[in-house]
Amino acid sequence: MSTTDIELPRMDQPQDSEFVQFWNEVLAPKFTRFRHVLVGGLSYHSEAVFPRLPVRAGDRALDVGCGWGDTAMKLGRLVGHEGEVVGIDCCDAFLEGARADLAQIELKNVRFMRGDAEIALPEGQFDFAFARFGTMFFANPVAGLRNMRKALRPGGRMVHIVWRDPADNPWLSMAKDIVLRFLPPPGEDARSCGPGPFSMADEPTVRKMMEIAGYSDIEFERVDAPVRVGDDVQDAINFQLAIGPAGEVFREAGELAEAKRGEIEAALAEAIDRQARDADGIVMDSSSWVISARNPS
Ligand SMILES: C[S@@+](CC[C@H](N)C(=O)[O-])C[C@H]1O[C@@H](n2cnc3c(N)ncnc32)[C@H](O)[C@@H]1O
Repeated sequence: MSTTDIELPRMDQPQDSEFVQFWNEVLAPKFTRFRHVLVGGLSYHSEAVFPRLPVRAGDRALDVGCGWGDTAMKLGRLVGHEGEVVGIDCCDAFLEGARADLAQIELKNVRFMRGDAEIALPEGQFDFAFARFGTMFFANPVAGLRNMRKALRPGGRMVHIVWRDPADNPWLSMAKDIVLRFLPPPGEDARSCGPGPFSMADEPTVRKMMEIAGYSDIEFERVDAPVRVGDDVQDAINFQLAIGPAGEVFREAGELAEAKRGEIEAALAEAIDRQARDADGIVMDSSSWVISARNPS
């Protein structure tokens, strides 16, 4: 089998959705600045499940919302040279990073393409579909999840990892609570990356979405893990004010946020300084669902 066997539909859209534009224009530079924080932190959650993913040598695997491609490359090693992996993301800058990293290593069975998973994915071609913290951003989650199912062959398996409740994810919620002491919540018309990191936190709701999207054998497993929030206190403050729920409040408040930056940073510094540290920097608790399912038809 070679990578040329796989058929990919033309997925260019006449125009990117507002969310895809937001990823490309606003979030990409911020995520790139904090790549050192994000990839390591997110990996804690995928490392917990990678050793037992339902993936075999020779499989074709799809990584949706693959970002900088580290999980796609990991899948590439699992499926071996007889298998292949396609990583799909809607953000050009992340894909550029993924392709640059791929060029540095000996993996010929992985490739990356641009696409919006809510619009279209290659159909019926994969044994396994995966997404690490990518599906929560689907504005129409059932459409995106259904496209992932339709990408699978009959009997194919999928695993996606999403954040659980804000209360169990202080690494994201603590800073938001602090910033909201100084600034108003974002308005209804705020630009955003989609529904946001906690949109798939509620098990019954997501189970229903998965059922409507056509999956069977749906299982939820809770994974708790520490995540890195910064090399030091200032790095963590910068991270929180750039990305995630606190970053959204800060960004949307515009000039008011800048006027109150000193007070906000001081309050964040006090709270972040109380957190645990490991060799990589400051760590806080986080909690995810690892959701697995099967395409029955
Ligand atoms: C939090 S990042 C996770 C990236 C990567 N999976 C990781 O764990 O490092 C979410 C990713 O989903 C991508 N994304 C969001 N909505 C998407 C969509 N509709 N189609 C494809 N990718 C999407 C973003 O561009 C971003 O790379």
